[in-house]
Amino acid sequence: MEAIILAGGFGTRLKPLTYTRAKSLLPIMNRPMISYIVNQLPDEVNRVILAVNYRKKEIEEFFEGNDFGKEIIVNEEKTPLGTGGAAKFAEKHITGSFFVLNSDIISSLDMKKMVDFHYKNNGFITISLWPVKNVSEFGVVDIEGDRIKKFVEKPRPEEAPSNLINAGAYFMEPEVMDRIESGRLVSMEKEIFPKVIGEGKSFLGYRVSGYWIDVGRIKSYLRVHRILMEKTGKENFVGENCKIQGKVSGSCLGDGVFVGEGTEVRDSILYDRVHVSEMAKMKNCVIGEDCEIGRDSDLENVVIGDNEVIEDGSMIRDKKIWTQKIPEGYPEEQVGNVLKR
Ligand code: GTP
Repeated sequence: MEAIILAGGFGTRLKPLTYTRAKSLLPIMNRPMISYIVNQLPDEVNRVILAVNYRKKEIEEFFEGNDFGKEIIVNEEKTPLGTGGAAKFAEKHITGSFFVLNSDIISSLDMKKMVDFHYKNNGFITISLWPVKNVSEFGVVDIEGDRIKKFVEKPRPEEAPSNLINAGAYFMEPEVMDRIESGRLVSMEKEIFPKVIGEGKSFLGYRVSGYWIDVGRIKSYLRVHRILMEKTGKENFVGENCKIQGKVSGSCLGDGVFVGEGTEVRDSILYDRVHVSEMAKMKNCVIGEDCEIGRDSDLENVVIGDNEVIEDGSMIRDKKIWTQKIPEGYPEEQVGNVLKR
C-alpha cells in the first residue's frame, strides 16, 4: 500500500523559518515534522511517495539518513501541482488503494482504523474530519451518517450543516486518478472531491478523536509543542550539550543552546546553537539556528530566522525578523495551497 505525502509547499506563513528549510523539516521537539507523519502510517503502507519541490534535496537527504522501514520515493514536481496534481504525478507508483496526506498536520488519527473503516463501508474516498468551534473560518462538511454530501465554505454558524472540517488525510481507491487531469495544478478539494460526490460515489468521513493541529502558522507551531510536550509530562524539552544558567519553562531547546544567567525563557522554541545572553526575557518566541540574543533584551511573540543577531537591550514585540537575502524564487504569497485557511 502506498502513501503520498504532500511536502512541496513553501510554507510562506512560517517564514522566515522556511527561508532556510523545508516546512516539513521544521523541528517539532527536535524531530522533523514529516517524521511524525511517516511514523503514524500503518504497517500496510510499505511505500511512501514524497511529493516535493521546494528544498527537495534536504528532504531527500533526511530520508537517506533515517530509515523508517519503508520504501521512500522522492517525486519532484518541477512546479507546484497542488494536492490533486501531485497525487496524479505519483500515479505510476500506485498499486492499489492509497493515502494522500498533508505533511503539516500533527494528529492522533489512527490510520489503520481509517483504512478498516474505508473497506468496511465500501468507500471510494474517505477523508478524515475534525470538529471545530469556529465553523465560519473553515470549509465544513454536510454529512449524513458517515457519507459526505457536500462541502460548505465558511458558513455562518447558524447555517453550518456540521462542525466538521476536512482534516487533511485522505484514503482512496486508485480509480480516483482517472478523474485527475495530468500536468497541471489541480486541487483535490475544490475540483476532484465535488466531482466524485456529484457522481454519487461513496465519499466518507472518518472522525479524528484526540488532538489535531494544522501546523501552518507560527501560533499553531508553538501550540503543537505545548500539546506534545504536555504528553511527555516534562516542563521542557532540551537537546544535547545545552548550558542553561537562567530559567527555562514550557520551552523546547535544540542542541548546543546557551541560556545565560538571570535570563528567563518561557513558552518558546530555540533551535540548535541559539545563544541567549544574560538578563534577557523571552516569551512565545521561535528563534532560528545560530541566533545570538543580546543581554537585557526583552522579546515577546517574536520569530527570528537563522543566523540573526539581536542587539543588547532590544525590546521587541510581535515581529518576524529577517535581515538577510530572501531566497531566490521564494513567493511573496501562498501558492498552490491545498486547504484554504
Ligand atoms: P503556506 O504557503 O503557508 O500556505 O504553506 P504551504 O505551502 O505548505 O501550503 P499549505 O499549508 O496549504 O499546504 C498543505 C500541505 O500541502 C503541506 O504539507 C504542503 O507541503 C503541501 N503542498 C502545498 N502545495 C503543494 C503542491 O503544489 N505540491 C505538493 N507536492 N505539495 C504541496
